[in-house]
Amino acid sequence: MTQPTALPAWQALQNHRHEIAASHMRDWFAQDGSRFQSFSLEVADILFDYSKNLVTDKTMGQLLQLAEQSGLRARIEAMFNGDKINNTEDRAVLHVALRNRGDRPVFVEGRDVMPQVRRVLDKMRHFVGQVRSGEWLGHSGRAVTDVVNIGIGGSDLGPRMVTAALTPYHKDNLKVHYVANVDEADLIETLKGLNQETTLFLVASKTFTTQETMTNARSARDWLLAGVGGDERAIARHFVAISTNRHAVQAFGIDPDNMFEFWDWVGGRYSLWSAVGLSIALAVGMDRFEELLQGAYEVDEHFRTAPFSRNVPVIMGLLGIWYNNFLGARSHAVLPYNQYLRHFPEHLQQLDMESNGKGVDLDGLQVNYQTGPVIWGQPGTNGQHSFFQLLHQGTHLVPCDFLAAVQSHHRFGEHHQILLANCLAQAEALMRGKTEEEVRAELAGLDLPEEKLAILVAAKTFPGNRPSNMFLFEKLTPKVLGSLVALYEHKVFVQGAVWHINSFDQMGVELGKQLAKVILPELEGGEMGDHDASTRALIETCRDWGRQS
Ligand code: F6P
Repeated sequence: MTQPTALPAWQALQNHRHEIAASHMRDWFAQDGSRFQSFSLEVADILFDYSKNLVTDKTMGQLLQLAEQSGLRARIEAMFNGDKINNTEDRAVLHVALRNRGDRPVFVEGRDVMPQVRRVLDKMRHFVGQVRSGEWLGHSGRAVTDVVNIGIGGSDLGPRMVTAALTPYHKDNLKVHYVANVDEADLIETLKGLNQETTLFLVASKTFTTQETMTNARSARDWLLAGVGGDERAIARHFVAISTNRHAVQAFGIDPDNMFEFWDWVGGRYSLWSAVGLSIALAVGMDRFEELLQGAYEVDEHFRTAPFSRNVPVIMGLLGIWYNNFLGARSHAVLPYNQYLRHFPEHLQQLDMESNGKGVDLDGLQVNYQTGPVIWGQPGTNGQHSFFQLLHQGTHLVPCDFLAAVQSHHRFGEHHQILLANCLAQAEALMRGKTEEEVRAELAGLDLPEEKLAILVAAKTFPGNRPSNMFLFEKLTPKVLGSLVALYEHKVFVQGAVWHINSFDQMGVELGKQLAKVILPELEGGEMGDHDASTRALIETCRDWGRQS
């Protein structure tokens, strides 16, 4: 396939960026009363306003051309058809099957996977019902009060984010916790105050070999056994596994009846929709979990069928490409004005950067263009009091996504209206800026010497013309959340397709894992292997200082 940079639309966009270089969004809004209508869409109960972007009709036309010329349409079809689009691992990519709420079959190697998807959902429903009703009893006959999900990466971030986001839907007498880090502090602090008799562990790992997860799971098992007099029969009542690796689950000692299965065509960072979402379902109930799936399904259908010009994930992806590849942006900020969405940026970091942080294309060739940006962010309004200074007046172009619910789950004074007002104001301020004339008018009464005035005017002027998207929804329900996550998943897909890279492997995480396995015995006094002088000295220092403690 032609490299994206050689496509006619890519060339056209290179020229077009000069055409709009001197324009200001403020003027576009002033000149065109219908800019919001032209550049906003509604999908699955979410209003997507992209009118505060550095785009004209011509820009959008050329970006849409780029999508067509890069073969995005065929790639979407290939994913939904179960083709092995993850070419390095020779796997289909079918997280969409996990939330297929229709009766469309989904084939992998000629076999419809929907019956097995439904079977696992049924098994989850049964188990979730038992635990939440108090019917599932621990080894000593007591009901579960605390669930601890042990997993990392996709087996942690997605479920952790969704569980936090849906806190208003939690069952009061069942707490769900997450342990990811191999740093024992994570497990120790989580287990403080928990009772072995009423704690249920979910060990979530696609491979069931991940060092951090298996280390935490073994320590959790020791902690459990210490509380039940070493009786190993307790494991069957207190440990559940979620994995694709039945053999390793059994070897760990978990009853195969307590295993919830998923499949190699579910990528780790796309797995919250599978049994990896069991912790979510335990927190909010199976009905709510299925509402989450429904929200994602509606976006899947939209992505699969809507014309590109009205296709929200396609537009999200193309806007990102515009900034990344043509206007020099190197990062993208995700700013949920919603405390319940505090882990949303972290989830998107794995989703986006593990998917599109690639330097070779699908044909194994080095890319000569930028791929995935750095994703970062935190909830508003907190960020306003730390990094927003840079967003408004710094030298970097940072496209932003704002997300906000119009209604709160609570009624508590003026909090929510203040939150919303700040969200809308930030997007407006980034776009509009503040002109020198406006600043001079504000300072007019102060009677300052001209030299001081000039310095102040320069410091208080905001360039504006800084792009953002706004995702507005009535309330943060499970369904809306499902739609939001799916929008971002497909955005990542669109960008990967245009960049002609494989968004579904993660080879870049392997080297560090391999080297850690070499260094571990060396830290423990084993023979030192071949290292650079820095690493060698650091290992030796760790050994020395470790001996002293
Ligand atoms: O190291 C990266 C990674 O493979 C992620 O892609 C994955 O989500 C995470 O590790 C956890 O893997 P597993 O679910 O197999 O334990």
